[in-house]
Amino acid sequence: MLLDRIATEIQQSGPLFFDRFMELALYDPDGGFFGSGDLRSHRGGDFLTSPEVSPLFGATLARFAAAERDRIGGLDAVVDCGAGSGSLLAGLVADLPGVTAVAVEVSPAARAAITTRLPEITVVKDLAAVGRLPRGVIVANELADNLPAAVAVRTADGWEEEAVAIVGDRLGPVRVAARPEVAAWAERFAPGLPAGSRVEVQLGAAQWLRSALQTIAAGAVVMIDYGDTADGLRHRRAQGTVRTYRAHHLGPDPLL
Ligand SMILES: C[S@@+](CC[C@H](N)C(=O)[O-])C[C@H]1O[C@@H](n2cnc3c(N)ncnc32)[C@H](O)[C@@H]1O
Repeated sequence: MLLDRIATEIQQSGPLFFDRFMELALYDPDGGFFGSGDLRSHRGGDFLTSPEVSPLFGATLARFAAAERDRIGGLDAVVDCGAGSGSLLAGLVADLPGVTAVAVEVSPAARAAITTRLPEITVVKDLAAVGRLPRGVIVANELADNLPAAVAVRTADGWEEEAVAIVGDRLGPVRVAARPEVAAWAERFAPGLPAGSRVEVQLGAAQWLRSALQTIAAGAVVMIDYGDTADGLRHRRAQGTVRTYRAHHLGPDPLL
């Protein structure tokens, strides 16, 4: 059971940084939220995304991709990362005849849903499998904020991290010294916060963006996600912004 494997890793190595915990909770092939189980992004699943609600989402991005094709003199492929059920991709390919489309999706259930819906589309497990594209458009709707993030907590004189430990007979949060790269990220993107503030440090999203930019020589990477400016997020820092969903309801505690 995944919870046992998480507990074993904590017993062997000490508290897990939140991004490591999130990686296991999301991607474990035997119990992870995306790595196993049913399709999550649809009405019968755990959350709904905008492309599920309207085909105009994909059609709008198709217009953008067509403009990129005209701008750079062709398109080798349009790539949808974290393609979910394929709703966005369906709208994209319908309005981009002749353009090769690729879905990147970590979830086996989502990959199966895409293949059933769009049998002509190539579906791969990660962006590295796409290879280098001289001319490409990469889209990612609601991917970046799924990628593992560390949680930094502001102290009177610097930063700590919130890690996951075994507290009593269940998982619980503990404070540990912040890794230098986590403290540097928090200080850079969320400076001047009062002690106790929580900052999600999205090293995974930054790494993904670097990989996406390295995948194409010309074209564009389009990321669409929830977010705010540093100022806009200030009032949410006391609670932090980590959220979980099950059956379309907000979870009470990410560690559950
Ligand atoms: C919030 S859903 C968005 C789905 C789709 N883009 C949409 O708009 O309906 C996030 C999707 O990203 C996938 N995902 C999460 N992490 C991923 C990763 N590292 N690589 C590829 N796909 C990932 C999940 O399996 C899930 O299908």
